[in-house]
Amino acid sequence: MTSFKPIVFSGVQPTGNLHLGNYLGAIKKFVALQQSHDCIYCVVDMHAITVWQDPVELMNSTREVTAAFLAAGIDAEKHIVFNQSRVAQHAELAWVFNCVARMGWLNRMTQFKEKAGKDRENASVGLFSYPNLMASDILVYRATHVPVGDDQKQHLELCRDIAQKFNNDYSERIADLKLGVEMMVGREKINGYFPLTEPLIEGPATRIMSLRDGTKKMSKSDPSDLSRINLTDDTDAIAKKFRKARTDPDALPSESAGLAGRPEADNLVGIYAALADSSKDDVLREFGGRQFSEFKPALADLAVANLAPVAGEMRRISRDLTYIDGVLGDGAAKARTIAGETMGHVRDIVGLLQD
Ligand code: TRP
Repeated sequence: MTSFKPIVFSGVQPTGNLHLGNYLGAIKKFVALQQSHDCIYCVVDMHAITVWQDPVELMNSTREVTAAFLAAGIDAEKHIVFNQSRVAQHAELAWVFNCVARMGWLNRMTQFKEKAGKDRENASVGLFSYPNLMASDILVYRATHVPVGDDQKQHLELCRDIAQKFNNDYSERIADLKLGVEMMVGREKINGYFPLTEPLIEGPATRIMSLRDGTKKMSKSDPSDLSRINLTDDTDAIAKKFRKARTDPDALPSESAGLAGRPEADNLVGIYAALADSSKDDVLREFGGRQFSEFKPALADLAVANLAPVAGEMRRISRDLTYIDGVLGDGAAKARTIAGETMGHVRDIVGLLQD
């Protein structure tokens, strides 16, 4: 009996400037996982258009995210880097999943409620079915692990629900076609076509918060540029933003338990730990008892040391559109081979006639 080959998949939306939250919460982890896994990293342009995007800006952002991936150290030759819309099977499988997922499941999605706001009647249908497309991104490669931020946990649960319902609804057909793969669901051994994908949400900075308000996520849509560190910020901007970051008046605690109820302090210590590849407790072993006036410059220096090489490399790569477009085209060709095979199986399983 075979079991699922470990495959990592993740996606980043090309919507405006990348910031420290994207870097620490996603891209830096993508880089590390290349050592241990076959990885597929996708610029999810079809997800981006669930809300209005200026077409020219969308193309620029797609290339910018690709440049950031490459600048940070993602190896597009050993792994796969591409933009979602180039591989038609994502949309194809998403349709099948539209017919597997239930309205009630999607109605519970908190990201839809937040993004649609009060005027739900006016939200795009795509924004509502967004999680089904996301499940399709992952399962069209039968990916087993997905590095994401804390905010994507609910979408990953939905992805598992979809896989489980598909495996269950079509279990006889999957067995007849001998397409089943053995897996453990709790204590039960079952045969399914899709794996129950695990999120990888680890480390000191699973949620990077605004520098102006430790209870809000760092976001490209925050009107205050001081709230975020952009990947393209220069040394002076980074130093200034950390200097002006909101804090409370107390000194740093000597262990991470002391960060409870201090969201701004927690955020800055988490950022430091993530940049240094250490833990909050390690950081506080060094800085416990010290004032923010001492901690902030050290944090700014560390951030600059981490980000400046990436920003420089991004600027260099961004000038070479032919190279970026070549990477995306080659990546899409590799992705299509895997996705095409999956979609062929899915058509057989569901009963859709094909060539
Ligand atoms: N929804 C993710 C986000 O906003 C982006 C995304 C789309 C994604 N498809 C994915 C992430 C598949 C992981 C796997 O961050």
